[in-house]
Amino acid sequence: MSKAKVGVLISGRGSNMAALIEAAKADDCPFEIALVLSNKPDAGGLETARAAGIEAWAIDQKLFGKDREAHERELDAALRQADCGYVALAGYMRVLTPFLVRAWAGRMVNIHPSLLPKYPGLDTHQRALNAGDAEAGCTVHLVTEGVDEGPILGQARVPIRTGDDAHALAERILVEEHRLYPAALAELVQQKPASS
Ligand code: GRF
Repeated sequence: MSKAKVGVLISGRGSNMAALIEAAKADDCPFEIALVLSNKPDAGGLETARAAGIEAWAIDQKLFGKDREAHERELDAALRQADCGYVALAGYMRVLTPFLVRAWAGRMVNIHPSLLPKYPGLDTHQRALNAGDAEAGCTVHLVTEGVDEGPILGQARVPIRTGDDAHALAERILVEEHRLYPAALAELVQQKPASS
């Protein structure tokens, strides 16, 4: 079986990236991780990826100053050079410009730690706690120009328990993120071959 090639963009520890790499090892997984890129040279996930035998490097956003599109043109070139058909954002902490979003429309996904459309943006766990919600969770969605607004591909839910703080809730959700992300990405690449 030929697998869909996925490029993963990270900014930090890359635990979701690691979950995608792990899932891709299964013979029947329809995707492989072809490349990991970070916008920050010190992202811990780069080492994790290399240790798993995946090509991984940083394209340092600082080198491009305020020109976000110039930075994204380098990301885009690297993804195409690696023959990627899809892009998975995994804790990529920079808002994308329309250039990269349009270049990968329908083939770029993100994981977000809330039950979208609730709590787009940052501080999702604390916001769910502050609202007194009974449950929280995570969402995998297609990336569109509005932040955390694209069509939802899948969600997973967890209960909010008495005494939870943002850290405890984040940990509970992260376990579900690591299950949901590979499953949702597998479903996407099977439904929508990169060449179509
Ligand atoms: C995750 O909670 C993800 O949902 C959010 O950023 C966090 C990244 O964590 N977008 P990691 O780098 O994947 O460990």
